[in-house]
Amino acid sequence: MSTTGDSRREFLKKATFAVTGFTIVPGFTVSGFGHKAPSDKLNIVGIGIGGKGHPNLVGMNTENIVGLCDVDWKYAANCFNEFPNAKRYWDWRKMFDEMGRSFDAVMVATADHTHGVIAATALTMGKHVYCQKPLTHSIYESRLLTRLAARHKVATQMGNQGNSGDGVRQLCEWIWNGEIGEVTEVHAWTDRPIWPQGLQRPVEIMTPPDTLNWDLFVGPAPMRPFHEIYTPWNWRGWWDFGTGAFGDMACHVLDPVYQALKLGYPEMVHGSSTLMNTESAPQAETVEFAFPARAPLQKVKMPAVKVHWYDGGILPSRPDLLPEGANFMADGLGGCIFEGTKDTLICDCGGFNPRLLSGRIPDVKPYLRRIPGAIGYVDGPHEQDWIRACKESPANRMEGTSHFGYSGPLNEMVLLGVLAIRLQSLNKKLRWDAEKMQFSNISPSDEIRIVTSNDFKVIDGHPNFNTQYAAFNALEAAGDYIKHVYREGWTLPDMPN
Ligand SMILES: NC(=O)c1ccc[n+]([C@@H]2O[C@H](COP(=O)([O-])OP(=O)(O)OC[C@H]3O[C@@H](n4cnc5c(N)ncnc54)[C@H](O)[C@@H]3O)[C@@H](O)[C@H]2O)c1
Repeated sequence: MSTTGDSRREFLKKATFAVTGFTIVPGFTVSGFGHKAPSDKLNIVGIGIGGKGHPNLVGMNTENIVGLCDVDWKYAANCFNEFPNAKRYWDWRKMFDEMGRSFDAVMVATADHTHGVIAATALTMGKHVYCQKPLTHSIYESRLLTRLAARHKVATQMGNQGNSGDGVRQLCEWIWNGEIGEVTEVHAWTDRPIWPQGLQRPVEIMTPPDTLNWDLFVGPAPMRPFHEIYTPWNWRGWWDFGTGAFGDMACHVLDPVYQALKLGYPEMVHGSSTLMNTESAPQAETVEFAFPARAPLQKVKMPAVKVHWYDGGILPSRPDLLPEGANFMADGLGGCIFEGTKDTLICDCGGFNPRLLSGRIPDVKPYLRRIPGAIGYVDGPHEQDWIRACKESPANRMEGTSHFGYSGPLNEMVLLGVLAIRLQSLNKKLRWDAEKMQFSNISPSDEIRIVTSNDFKVIDGHPNFNTQYAAFNALEAAGDYIKHVYREGWTLPDMPN
């Protein structure tokens, strides 16, 4: 089914109209009935298809996969072969220009630093968007996607598939029924990274293979010489492209905490880690967030709560009731503990397998909507729930539970934790003004010191350490982490009010 969605160029030409009230009409609204019949298939394009994007698209293969884009055609070959009828592209901007009128929806699974610009452009074209976690690389991009999704009334979903699972729904039903009482402390963890972190930038310069477009991979980030350490997969540990173990996993692990406790924005955050340098995330991190009291929910009050994060092998203290030998990393991904005034709840990553440490099994009748097949960490049900939402009219749409109105603020919390790590040398609890997207207790003269190189040699039998630091103005650094300055040639759409 073709649509009347605008191409990227047409959108840019009409941008002035957009701010003065022109609304781009998504394809499905032109049917006259205000929605797409369930029998009509969506036309979907995929961007970033060599890794997670491939199973995501397989999870969407009830629909027409009409276009595929990747900057690494060797790595993407399996996915290209899976969908031989899809048009192939290197540059998503060209795909949007050429195919803008013939697709309804976009799946984004590139490295984190390009999610924001791709998804924002697609939203302004009136396209539905499924975007991998973390939703974006900067807090500003997250806020932008949240607002653009609301403005353009399209269906969205962040790719934290555990969010559609049964576990988190059961856990919410228990907590909201008062089964563990009021929660004031949460501990959440993962054993990631399982990719290199804590590395210096390589000095060796390599030539990219012909099958990779390095300039397009770097996209809006500052250009740097190619090295094979960055892509595929390992970009996660490099600050310019990824968000380290915390950014990678927290959208899964903290999702049940965010949903069940309706956390909203934190007011304070503090991070600490193993040695951190200017280039890549440290090997292990802890972060503490403070959230103010929220409105009571059903039978339970929502008092102020502290949320503690641990990664890289560090784990929280073991609760007394946790059986000896019980492995915090039993599911291989992570988990969390909710400390309530009446009981303690523990669950695996994404809220799966919730259980009370007292051993009691709450008797609460399930009432939250279950997503068919969303048991365990499978791909497919989360994608299909988004597809269902895409086919519903904006007025009657039941959003996927990780739509950007939910996952945008969750992602902001996660990225704030990453910032706390990057700003840890300020040695203060950082006060966060979420409305203004800025810290309220960093002064103009504050500096951060970050390691630029860290050498160790044995000379004449004696250990010699040589650690070099660079100093940065903290407000400027924080400003850039919150809202990146894009490389020339790359821009984001304007932030809607
Ligand atoms: N939900 C999950 O369980 C899950 C699991 C793995 C990864 N992810 C997320 O999926 C995303 C991709 O991770 P991955 O492990 O697949 O990484 P990857 O490096 O294995 O794959 C990324 C793909 O995107 C391509 N790419 C990069 N920049 C591009 C651009 N500008 N335009 C087009 N293609 C581009 C790469 O060439 C590669 O094929 C990340 O955001 C990651 O956090 C989610």
